[in-house]
Amino acid sequence: MTKIAPSILSADFCRLGEDIQKVSSADWLHVDVMDGMFVPNISIGVPVVKSIRAHTDMFLDVHLMVEKPGRYVKAFSQAGADLLSIHLEADMPPALHAALDEMEALGVKKGIVLRPITAPEAVIPYLQRGVDLVLVMTVEPGFGGQSFMADQLPKISALRALIDQYCPGCLLEVDGGVNVETARLCRQAGADVLVAGSAVYGAADIPAAIAALRG
Ligand code: DX5
Ligand code: ZN
Repeated sequence: MTKIAPSILSADFCRLGEDIQKVSSADWLHVDVMDGMFVPNISIGVPVVKSIRAHTDMFLDVHLMVEKPGRYVKAFSQAGADLLSIHLEADMPPALHAALDEMEALGVKKGIVLRPITAPEAVIPYLQRGVDLVLVMTVEPGFGGQSFMADQLPKISALRALIDQYCPGCLLEVDGGVNVETARLCRQAGADVLVAGSAVYGAADIPAAIAALRG
């Protein structure tokens, strides 16, 4: 069954504990870390992840939208992240491979992320070495509440095929503009995990919204 990962970027940060409780029927918790360099926005960092870890047993899916993410692998692992995903555009390949090696050594799951501009074939060397997750952005990273880029759907299908060929067992996650309608398109294209911020936190009935996204 499709996993749903609510993004706390759409939560009320003054009531973060309560807002995490509200999505406890979901599968994962998606944490968007932004550095004001890789993306124009600044969000949350290591201390917040540490507090979240102390508050919930949910699987913490930490999306690092930061330049040279290898600098932060250890800190976020020690703060309690279950999975760290790093952008292919955020550093040179040798540094990204070194960051993935470090995740492996620290026992945290490894993800790679593609901005909308990045071609699906860019993941092949990473699938060949083995990763746990490929995250495909269906908005320009940086902000919640944007519209789904339907032109990314063929890329989701292409990534599904590449994963099945090179790294079966690796999960395919989609992030950005996911709502009930676009979730269906993502599932049809082969997504395993759907991130949703505004579609979850903007809903009057959050558990019903999570169930509807699962399909
Ligand atoms: C965007 C973030 C997303 C964002 C999704 O840069 O990576 O995780 O929170 O928000 P929605 O679901 O509102 O597009
Ligand atoms: Zn995200």
